[in-house]
Amino acid sequence: MKVLLTGATGYIGSAVTDHLTGAGHQVIALTRGTQPRPGRSWHAQVAGDTADPASLTGAVTPDIEAVIHLAPPSGEADVDAAVIEALAAPLRGTGRPLVYTSGIWVLGATGERQEVTEEAPTNPIGIVGYRPQIERQVLAEAAKGVRAVVIRPGIAYGRGGGIPALLVARAGEQQVPEYYGKEDVRWPMVHVDDLAELFVAAVERAGAGTLWHGVGESAVPVRDLARAAGRAAGVLAAPHAIPAEQAAQAFGPLFADALALDQSISGATARTVLGWNPDRQGAVAEVASGSYRPVAVFGAPEGPETDAEVASIRRLVAEIEHAQQNELVDQFLSLFRPQDPVWTTGHGKRLSGLEEIAAFTGQVLPGATADSTAVYDVERILFLRPDVAVVNVRQQPIGHDGTRIADRPEGRPLYILVKEDGVWRVGAAQNTLAVS
Ligand SMILES: NC(=O)c1ccc[n+]([C@@H]2O[C@H](COP(=O)([O-])OP(=O)(O)OC[C@H]3O[C@@H](n4cnc5c(N)ncnc54)[C@H](OP(=O)(O)O)[C@@H]3O)[C@@H](O)[C@H]2O)c1
Repeated sequence: MKVLLTGATGYIGSAVTDHLTGAGHQVIALTRGTQPRPGRSWHAQVAGDTADPASLTGAVTPDIEAVIHLAPPSGEADVDAAVIEALAAPLRGTGRPLVYTSGIWVLGATGERQEVTEEAPTNPIGIVGYRPQIERQVLAEAAKGVRAVVIRPGIAYGRGGGIPALLVARAGEQQVPEYYGKEDVRWPMVHVDDLAELFVAAVERAGAGTLWHGVGESAVPVRDLARAAGRAAGVLAAPHAIPAEQAAQAFGPLFADALALDQSISGATARTVLGWNPDRQGAVAEVASGSYRPVAVFGAPEGPETDAEVASIRRLVAEIEHAQQNELVDQFLSLFRPQDPVWTTGHGKRLSGLEEIAAFTGQVLPGATADSTAVYDVERILFLRPDVAVVNVRQQPIGHDGTRIADRPEGRPLYILVKEDGVWRVGAAQNTLAVS
């Protein structure tokens, strides 16, 4: 399909572009101005500004087979209503899709209710005050022969961006992980690539007049997310809840209210009806040890294939960390390549072969975390070959509350990883204590 996409340069729009083109569709990006944007896989670019609805007249040409509206609201209900009119009018009577992006904030605080569905009435917070009205306007287009669809994304994460990137930046600036409002506030979250797949599914097969929650995890404790953001920023400290009034000074009252909003929202309908399968790693793990933390990569070209290998390697190191933190001997051993692995411990003891590694691990790991444990962060990856990588890891001792133990040395593990049958495993490892 030829899909006109507003907001195509943005955080969600970039992922939607990738997944639409990956599914064989052509993206016509509607951008402010016609300045070419290199590196985009758009089929074409047209100029338009959603603050000026008249500039959209003519954007939906007869060859456009679908429209996805991702550009944010203008802040004025009349302007946004005129934008929908400009995008919808050429589609009337065609049965072609118009997908409008709203957001879960239109539901307000969900309170005691768990996993609120699309059936729930709206109760918008200030920052999205008139958005339900625009949702209704879009859905009403179903009666005029438009395959009108509304998607309400949760808080998007992944690709190092979105609102979690703000938590990481703030943790770095303040040297303490922050979250806002009450201590037990929860956010419904969605990986931006999972969300992009929902947009593709909606364009391809959502029925006219339907509304979907784009939520992968219904209620993520923001305190956990803040701790993960601290880690990504290199700040291993207990998260601090900032009262709403103080947050309002930093972010303005409307956005501060949104950050403090406690919600539990279900994305089950899209899974059941559209076959949507949001299966990427969860928000806390992604923020703690995924795309939010820079890693230096050598020996491989920049691009999505290398990104995918880097993500797999980070997941392997996260599994090593998980096995160590939870004293899981068998899981730890399963991460080694079975053929002649070698591991030299931080104290210089060389363990040769899986049997020696197993005997040593079985002896030292149980009980090892009684007082403290450690976090493992990938800092540098050198691809010697596409299937052989040398990985430098920073290992920092932490207490059970996640804070750095100041008077213990760090470790500097080096892993040689091998990819066999599509799976990265440890072929050789050496730890070194960092004496500073
Ligand atoms: N991110 C989330 O977690 C989240 C959650 C729920 C809902 N949403 C909704 O999803 C949509 C996209 O969010 P996002 O996070 O991807 O936003 P974003 O990164 O800020 O991207 C906004 C996009 O809209 C374009 N845009 C802004 N003003 C425009 C205008 N006047 N005319 C034409 N294009 C304009 C921007 O283009 P330029 O390159 O010209 O700036 C950019 O491509 C928004 O409606 C947002 O409310 C987002």
